[in-house]
Amino acid sequence: MAQQKTILRALAGEKQDVPPIWMMRQAGRYLPEYKATRAQAGDFLSLCYNSDLATEVTLQPIRRYGFDAAILFADILLVPQALGADLWFVTGEGPRLSTITTMNEFNALKPADAIHDTLAPIYQTVKNLRGALPDETTLIGFAGAPWTVATYMIAGRGTPDQGPAHALKAENLEVFEVLMDRITEATIDYLSMQIDAGAEVVKLFDSWAGSLKGDDFDKYALAPAKHIISTLKSRHPDVPIIAFPREAGDKYIGFAKATGADCVALDNSITPEWGAQNVQVDGCVQGNLASSHMVTGGQNLIDETRKVVDAFKNGPHIFNLGHGITPDADPENVQLMIDTVRGK
Ligand code: CP3
Repeated sequence: MAQQKTILRALAGEKQDVPPIWMMRQAGRYLPEYKATRAQAGDFLSLCYNSDLATEVTLQPIRRYGFDAAILFADILLVPQALGADLWFVTGEGPRLSTITTMNEFNALKPADAIHDTLAPIYQTVKNLRGALPDETTLIGFAGAPWTVATYMIAGRGTPDQGPAHALKAENLEVFEVLMDRITEATIDYLSMQIDAGAEVVKLFDSWAGSLKGDDFDKYALAPAKHIISTLKSRHPDVPIIAFPREAGDKYIGFAKATGADCVALDNSITPEWGAQNVQVDGCVQGNLASSHMVTGGQNLIDETRKVVDAFKNGPHIFNLGHGITPDADPENVQLMIDTVRGK
């Protein structure tokens, strides 16, 4: 059957005159309606686990802007929590988790297939969304990639250089690798359940892939992505997968072919021209406007948006930012970006 949804057409390799568009962190603190619903939920994690309110915040940017895709409202750190790690968020600072650096701590984690009790409300949010979204809007599910999730589980928080995870890899490879495997298996199960609940596309966020160099990148970013993607494809052959090995640099080249991803999301540390020449030659790409333009706006935003559209116009492209929109962004600038992409 011919595919009507613009995002699915791009993911199937179709070049479109106007690229479909959505935005990382499109449901977030730059939107007053998000802040109101988050206040109603009490805190961020309660919002993630309240299916009705999580459905509501997922829909907010669709109502306001008419994006071509909605992304499930949840977080990559719900998987560690479902595996038994303690998780909480410190206002103004970010996530905190109990740490895993020894075999004893690893052994206290739950098996991968035990995550679903905790994550059941997330699957319910996906179900709600499939019933609530407009016909033309694609629903994207997601998970963190094993390396990125491991960096938080090992350090117990976000780190500028992922030092603690690199240290564990150097000092206790056995613990590091069993942890990576556990996260990998849980991620496959989690994404599979999102697909069963109605996710039409899934995206794997490897936000810290850029700190893996050389062989380490191949072993801990590329190989897990390939395993996750091939297993998901064997279970759900028709569901497209977007991979985001952020700041992979030259390692973006060939990543789609090597992993089986249908689309590679590009961050804005590379130029769109480079991305078109080196990555889009293999298929669909997503990206890559700098999110700072959502704060600064103006003619510069218009010019840079056009540059991205123009650079990728000869192949399949999903317009997006290079990373998530920040809380200090102006909602008007988002509208200006969308109007520029759509030629209005
Ligand atoms: O994109 C979306 O709108 C979907 C929802 C989504 C969230 N987090 C909601 C969120 C997605 C896809 C994520 C992914 C995520 N979470 C990543 C990978 C992508 C990336 O940004 O690199 C990472 C590393 C996390 C972990 C995480 N969650 C951090 C480090 C933080 C704190 C930083 C911050 O922005 O406050 C979060 C919190 C978080 N996740 C918020 C949202 C909307 C803000 C929480 C709030 O409302 O206070």
